[in-house]
Amino acid sequence: MKKLRVLALMHEALIPPDSIEGLTDKDMAPWKTEYDVLFTLEELGHESLILGVCNELDPIGQTLRDWKPHIVFNLLEEFNGQATHIPYILAYFELLKQPYTGCNPLGLSFAYNKALAKKLLSYHDIPMPRFQVFPREQSIQRPKHLSFPLIVKSDTDHGSVGISQASIVRGDRKLKERVEYIHDRIRTDAIVEEYIDGRELYVGVIGNRHLQTLPIWEMFFPRLPDSAPRIATSKIKWDLNYQTKIGLKTRAATNLPRGVPERIARISKRVYRILGQSGYARMDFRLAPDGGIYLLESNPRPDLAYGEDFAESAHKMGIRYEELIQRIVTLGLGYQRQQHNAG
Ligand SMILES: Nc1ncnc2c1ncn2[C@@H]1O[C@H](COP(=O)(O)OP(=O)(O)O)[C@@H](O)[C@H]1O
Ligand SMILES: [Mg+2]
Repeated sequence: MKKLRVLALMHEALIPPDSIEGLTDKDMAPWKTEYDVLFTLEELGHESLILGVCNELDPIGQTLRDWKPHIVFNLLEEFNGQATHIPYILAYFELLKQPYTGCNPLGLSFAYNKALAKKLLSYHDIPMPRFQVFPREQSIQRPKHLSFPLIVKSDTDHGSVGISQASIVRGDRKLKERVEYIHDRIRTDAIVEEYIDGRELYVGVIGNRHLQTLPIWEMFFPRLPDSAPRIATSKIKWDLNYQTKIGLKTRAATNLPRGVPERIARISKRVYRILGQSGYARMDFRLAPDGGIYLLESNPRPDLAYGEDFAESAHKMGIRYEELIQRIVTLGLGYQRQQHNAG
């Protein structure tokens, strides 16, 4: 395997320390992905250089010119505090013909405009909950095609930002309140969807032209009170103590109805292609008790940390962590080659 110069691009506040001795999981949580990827690039024998950025483009251009990396391993999740700016950084790489890992700028843009992605996917008949967008400047009126219970989410945010049990609403007054909450507190447009009770499933997809799906992963909330809806709220995603309290677990989904795994894999690949994604992504689904499959969203930036769902599901099908990281690098190089060949 060719040894490469890999520029690890990350937020300057998330550069891991040289040694992790004596640190707890909680200490490491903010930069664990960065640490795991850097460690693994080293294990793979690549030469890596860390570049931490916050709001300056010049150091990126300068390092590309001086160090001439074969590829940028893109771990940067925001520029100047804005996740929505990352596609523009990638567009800069495209203009320079600089290979990078992960999704291309267009595919990534859909992650920050979920409404646009959903409109495109509904044109292609991808099964999704019925939805309506509530832009900030417009009045809040529930359209007739949406029936309660509904769930109210942000159009641009990820990681369940703005999602709590109060996001599920059962009447027009609560709907209005929650949409206003997204507008005023989260400061984004809102998406309102029909709430799908059911199993929470995730599927990784890897590839550029030839796509591979990873085994279906499921989230369980064994000790969540019966009265609480089983959804991945921000508290469930980010509060380590609460995760322990409710016994949060994710693992390979078993006992799926006949035909469901194949249908989910097929839908996942279609979604990936429709949204023009590349590198890798993770699809979020709900499976209703009647067997109905609903895509919630496609995440072209799933967490790549060792032991997290994406890596674990790859491992389940025999792709070790080092192999996964190497594949992601190889796909980044391959994508850029395809772009150039296409003119
Ligand atoms: N229509 C829905 N029906 C049921 N649960 C939902 C629905 N939309 C979102 N959820 C719950 O909220 C979580 C976060 O929503 P999602 O659309 O995936 O946004 P995010 O980008 O924040 O992950 C989901 O993982 C799921 O548990
Ligand atoms: Mg999600």
